[in-house]
Amino acid sequence: MTNVAIIGTGHHVPERVVTNEELKQWMDTSDEWIRERSGISERRWVTPGTTTDDMAHAAARMAIDDAGIEASELDMIVFATINPDHFFPGNGVLLQKSLGVDTIGALDIRNQCTGFVYGVATAAAYIKSGLYRTVLVVGAELQSSSLDLSDRGRDISVLFGDGAGAAILQAVDPESGSTSDVLASSLHSQGENARELWCELPAGCLPGRITPELMAEGRHFPLMNGRAVFKHAVIRFCQAIDEVLEKAGVTRDEIKLVVPHQANLRITEAVAKRFELRPEQVFSNIQRYGNTTAASIPIALSEAVREGRLVRGDLVVLVAFGSGFTWGANLIRW
Ligand code: COA
Repeated sequence: MTNVAIIGTGHHVPERVVTNEELKQWMDTSDEWIRERSGISERRWVTPGTTTDDMAHAAARMAIDDAGIEASELDMIVFATINPDHFFPGNGVLLQKSLGVDTIGALDIRNQCTGFVYGVATAAAYIKSGLYRTVLVVGAELQSSSLDLSDRGRDISVLFGDGAGAAILQAVDPESGSTSDVLASSLHSQGENARELWCELPAGCLPGRITPELMAEGRHFPLMNGRAVFKHAVIRFCQAIDEVLEKAGVTRDEIKLVVPHQANLRITEAVAKRFELRPEQVFSNIQRYGNTTAASIPIALSEAVREGRLVRGDLVVLVAFGSGFTWGANLIRW
């Protein structure tokens, strides 16, 4: 069977920096509250007119260039987002068009903060099965247009930011001397918690899907039970990491870097403490970007590579938890 290498990464964040101080013009909050609870100092928001596809395109182009391939070599697009530009079609087809590639397949993934982990697992399975050779996996989120900036939404609106990240996965012959591979993945869901972190509208199950009355109740904004999310996240992050290590017969000591979904610095710290990970074994950039949902892992991975935190042969774990609840991990030999 063929192995799978990540041969290129890329990311894009909007230029507009929104500090915690700036949020005070819309809601009753403080820099101290946000930093203490989440570790976030600032996030990026798009300027009006920018789309999820614009950010995804920029991240994908960077990954394609980094991989040293032509876009025409892509066999498949896997696109993770909870913020598609339209209700349908999904953003995969928009990226197929904006990249100007042939009529290759485009799969849209709806697994929220775990979307990129699901995407890598899916792309790796496609490649290992022999169906495709080169797959682009993208996570892109334009969240700033969907936030309740009043006091009602302040618990969640201070956490989220915009951005996109991408990776190119390609088949590699183990005989070539390369040790790169996606060694193991774990994917989970638990729908009984669907309403603990969700955005109810527009809802296909409601007549009219969205009405002024429902909007007045704020039901088109994301809602979260922060405490429940926090508690479950720490447990599930740890379980997912343990699962992929066990599947591949790898110990915690051997991990060079954990790239967790950037949900909350306190969650990352709690996971690192439980696993007795050294600071250099964990990547965090939530301080600068906030939580960018499906984009957070590929943005972090792209930055980690550029900072020299990963070299070929290293073991890296991507791990995520989010709305659904969904959670999972990928163990990758870089
Ligand atoms: N600024 C100031 N005060 C705020 C606030 C904000 N942005 N948001 C909420 N508060 C207030 C609350 O209204 C509450 O006030 P009260 O005590 O007068 O009622 C107080 O702060 C404490 O609220 P609480 O919700 O108990 O805070 P918390 O310590 O649980 O922290 C979160 C809230 C959201 C930061 C925390 O629960 C969390 O990080 N959860 C996980 C979130 C996450 O990672 N989500 C993404 C998962 S993918």
